[in-house]
Amino acid sequence: MREPKTYFIRTYGCQMNELDTEIMAGQLQKRGLTPALDEETADILIFNTCSIRDLAERKVMGKLGKMGRGKKQHCLIGVTGCMAMAKKDALFRKFPHLDFVLGTNNITDLGTMIDEALYTRRQIFKTEDKFEENLDYLSAKRDNKIKASVSIIRGCDKFCTYCVVPYTRGQEVSRPPESIVEECRRLVDQGYKEITLLGQNVNSYGKDQPEWNCLFHDLLYRLDRIPGMERIRFMTSHPVDITLDLMQAIRDLPSLCEFVHFPIQAGSNRILKKMHRIYTKEQYFEKVELLRQTVPDVSLGTDIIVGFPTETEEEFQETCDALKQIRYSLAFIFAYSSRKGTPAMRWKDDVPEEVKLDRLQRLLDLQNEISNEERQLMLGNTYEVLVERLNRDGRQLKGRTRCWKKVIFEGDESLIGTLQKVKVHSYSHQTLLGELAKTPHLKVV
Ligand code: SAH
Ligand code: SF4
Ligand code: F3S
Repeated sequence: MREPKTYFIRTYGCQMNELDTEIMAGQLQKRGLTPALDEETADILIFNTCSIRDLAERKVMGKLGKMGRGKKQHCLIGVTGCMAMAKKDALFRKFPHLDFVLGTNNITDLGTMIDEALYTRRQIFKTEDKFEENLDYLSAKRDNKIKASVSIIRGCDKFCTYCVVPYTRGQEVSRPPESIVEECRRLVDQGYKEITLLGQNVNSYGKDQPEWNCLFHDLLYRLDRIPGMERIRFMTSHPVDITLDLMQAIRDLPSLCEFVHFPIQAGSNRILKKMHRIYTKEQYFEKVELLRQTVPDVSLGTDIIVGFPTETEEEFQETCDALKQIRYSLAFIFAYSSRKGTPAMRWKDDVPEEVKLDRLQRLLDLQNEISNEERQLMLGNTYEVLVERLNRDGRQLKGRTRCWKKVIFEGDESLIGTLQKVKVHSYSHQTLLGELAKTPHLKVV
C-alpha cells in the first residue's frame, strides 16, 4: 500500500473532541504528514465522533456509509472519539471499508495503529476503558492563535442516568498540575490570550490524586500567577462540585473570567433524582445564590434536557420557572435522546417526539426573551473584549467579553489578538454591537 502523505480529521461533538483532534493532528504532523485540503483528497481520513445524542451518531453513520463507495482514494479510514468507544469493533461489521477504530483513551497510539493498519492490511481496534496520562499535549496543532484549550481532567465519574460520557470517556483521571502549568506557560509565551481549561467536570480536578494536594481552585491560583496570563475560562462544572473556594477564586483572580457554566438539566426534583444529578432544585438555587453573593458580576450558563422519560407538563413548567428565576445568559437546550448502555434506557422513552420539540421550542423562546432583556441592560456600558477576528463581512472586528458575549465593532485589523474596551450601543440577534471606547471608564463583566 502506498505511504500516506496527507490527512484530514472531521470532528464532531464537544470541545474535548476538538482538542483531541488538535492532539492527533500534532502526532500526524510529527510523522511528516500534512493536512489535506478536504476529505476527498486525504490519504488518511479520520472521523473523530460523538455519541451524546442519536442525531450526533446518525450524522457520522450516514457519512461513513457514503465513504465506502469512494474508498479507493484513501489509504486509510479510521474512527476515533466517543462512537469508537460506544460501538468498538461492531463498526467493522457495518462498515467493512473502515481500517481502524481508536478509543478516546488511546489516542497516543494513533501512530502505531496507522502502521499496523497499513502493513497488516487488517482491520484493527483499540478501545481501552482507562486513560493513561501519556499524551503529547505540547505538539498539538492549533489553528487558532489567540485562544487555546487545555485538558486538565479526562473522564467522568458522575453517571447521570441519561449520559454516555462515563462509558465513552472512562473514569476521571486528572493531569499532573506541573504538566498543565508548563503547557499554559508555553501558550502564554507564544502569545495566546485566552486559555480554556477542559474536562467533563473540571471541579473534580485533583480528587483522584489526593497526594498532589492540588484541587481545582489550587490549580487556578497557580495558573493565574503565570506572567502574561490574560484570561482563563473553564468548561464544564457539575453543580455539586462548585465550591466556595472556587467562587472566591473567580472573585479574586484577575485572569479568571466571571462566567460559570452551571448545568441544571431540569427544574423538578423528581426528574433530577431520576437523572441522578445528586442535587435538589433547592440546593442548586442555594449555590447560585452563594455564587452571586460572592461574585456579583458573574454570568451563568446552563444545559437543559427536555422530555426526559416520564416528564410531565407540570415538571417541564418547573424547568421554565428555574430559567426565569436564575436568568442564565446562555442556555443549551436539548431534547432527550435515549442512549444504549445508559441506565435511562430501562425506562420507556415515553414523551412523544412532538411534545419534546414543543417543549424545546418554548424553552428556547423563553431563554431568548431573557437573553434579550440581559442584552438590553448592557447597552451604554463598556466591556473588555478580546478581539478574535474579522467579522464575516470582512470589515468589522469580532470578539468576546469576559462573560462570553459576542461583540462586533469597527476597528483596525491590527487589534486582532488584543484586549480592547468596547462600548455597547445596540444588539442584533445574539450579537452585541459597539464601538471602541474613548473614555477610561470600564465596567468589567
Ligand atoms: N459534563 C457536562 C456535559 C457533557 S454532555 C456536564 O455535566 O455539564 C453536554 C450536555 O448534553 C449535557 O449537559 C446534557 O444536557 C446533554 N445530554 C447528555 N446526554 C443527553 C441525552 N441522552 N439526551 C439529550 N441530551 C443529553
Ligand atoms: Fe454526563 Fe453527567 Fe458526567 Fe456531565 S456529569 S458528562 S452529564 S454523566
Ligand atoms: Fe460527544 Fe463525547 Fe463530547 S459523546 S459531547 S464527543 S465527550
